[in-house]
Amino acid sequence: MSLRDHFPIFEKKIYFNSCSQGALSVEVQKAYAQYMQDWDDKGSPWELWVERSEIARHAFAGLVNADPNEVADCTSVSAGVSAIASALDFGGERNKVVVSDFEFPTVAQIWHAQERRGARVVHVPAAGHVIPLERFAEAIDERTKLVSITHVCFRNGSRLDAPAIVEMAHRKGALVLLDAYQTLGTLPVDVKALKVDFLAGGVLKYLLASAGLAFIYIRRDLVPDLQPTAMGWFSQANIFAMDIYANTPSPTARRFESGTPPVPSLYAGVAGMKLIQSVGLEKIQAEIGALTGAIKEGAMRRGFNLASPVDPEKHGALITLRSHKVDLLVKRLESDGIITSSRDDNLRISPHFYNNQGDVDRLMDCLTKHKELLV
Ligand SMILES: Cc1ncc(COP(=O)(O)O)c(C=O)c1O
Repeated sequence: MSLRDHFPIFEKKIYFNSCSQGALSVEVQKAYAQYMQDWDDKGSPWELWVERSEIARHAFAGLVNADPNEVADCTSVSAGVSAIASALDFGGERNKVVVSDFEFPTVAQIWHAQERRGARVVHVPAAGHVIPLERFAEAIDERTKLVSITHVCFRNGSRLDAPAIVEMAHRKGALVLLDAYQTLGTLPVDVKALKVDFLAGGVLKYLLASAGLAFIYIRRDLVPDLQPTAMGWFSQANIFAMDIYANTPSPTARRFESGTPPVPSLYAGVAGMKLIQSVGLEKIQAEIGALTGAIKEGAMRRGFNLASPVDPEKHGALITLRSHKVDLLVKRLESDGIITSSRDDNLRISPHFYNNQGDVDRLMDCLTKHKELLV
């Protein structure tokens, strides 16, 4: 069985929408079936299910080179980032949150929601399809509490220079949150090498699982001083203490968790992460590099305009093309059997290791057929 055969959708369609949701594998299908089997066989096996949330935590920690005690299981990036925000104090001089204009809306919205608590949100603007490092240098100062950046922009695939921004922020005494949702599963992400203070991401996209499971990483030495107010019984030192007279947070990053874990998504998420690890992130990065290279080359040769940077160091697994009528283009491609998506006026094409050159050739033929919809 070839790797591509693990994804039944390729029998019917060409799937190029991993930036939105990964293709469904037989492994993830089986994981959901196992969840129902366990439910049916055992009734209410909560010990098994709580153990699954530990397995998920360990799997994610392994993926990003964190200690499991630095990882909180969440139901979405929004829930995890909200828990982090709730633990930050914006009352003093250091109340500025520097937010890139490439953020996914949820992250920027959460920082704006902190304005009621004293936060001052400053945006770092884009120049075309990149954000020059100088713009960050201008925005980050001694009053900056946090710099919130996305690794790869969901709108245009642009990749920020995370290590350079982290260094800039740390020099001014600011913390950094990296939203790695668009890079997890596409290349090796190492929280220690990146030196980020917080990282967030979920399993829905290139980690090949489904909605309902995300994670946050919190650097170990920050945990004791951060007391989230967005929390719940699963954030307690002893989940089963059932104490209604006190809040006793876990000494680990588990204090950022909330209520009942998303059990079906834990099954799927573990299966997706396992599949990614079995293929290997270096290999995946190389394959995605070859595919995005072929997409850019094919598009430029035909005179289509990229909305992503051309330099492979400056984009992620997402290549975007400018379109006059992007909704219609996505529909036309869908009737050709090719699944893509759009944001703004950009067609989003996001390959994963399951795609091949034949998929790119077919996509280019169909784009040529619909070229009046491209800029
Ligand atoms: C970069 C990025 N961050 C966050 C999200 C979504 O986060 P949540 O899990 O809160 O829906 C997405 C996509 O849906 C995304 O592309």
